[in-house]
Amino acid sequence: MEIHRYEAAWIGVSLLLIVGWIATVTYGAVGVGITMVGDEAQIEEPSDPAASEDFREPGVYQTGPDEYAVYVVARQFLFEPGTSEAITVPAGSTVTLYVTSADVIHGFQLVGTNVNAMVIPGQVTKMTVEFEEPGTYGILCNEYCGAAHHAMEGRLEVVPPEEYDGGSA
Ligand code: CUA
Repeated sequence: MEIHRYEAAWIGVSLLLIVGWIATVTYGAVGVGITMVGDEAQIEEPSDPAASEDFREPGVYQTGPDEYAVYVVARQFLFEPGTSEAITVPAGSTVTLYVTSADVIHGFQLVGTNVNAMVIPGQVTKMTVEFEEPGTYGILCNEYCGAAHHAMEGRLEVVPPEEYDGGSA
């Protein structure tokens, strides 16, 4: 059987696309630095996450010389802390965010970084970021969560270390 030259070329292109697609999906699932929301931390009562052993009162906690843990609760239609009061951390620190939802599925995106995750009631989304320079980052909810979804936003401020006066908690 003879395959026309153009047909052979198109078969080649198709195979390349299929292989590329499988590689992309595989990288998205297991690539370096990409993690899925774990199911280790379970919150029994999503509306009161602070009562759970796997969560703390919302706020910023210093956990090491240049290490901070930030506990954030997302609910319709705010981040606590983040919305009425910015999350504040010093520059040059490694910050681990623990985010959960008290009601429905929300999103947590730090604009301008690769922090972008789904926040699920009963589960804790954990993300670690290093902030080298002072700056302000917007926090956005990118999962539709109700009437005021579009207005659900917050702020994370990275301040010079000498201006930092401790966590909010
Ligand atoms: Cu919360 Cu959209």
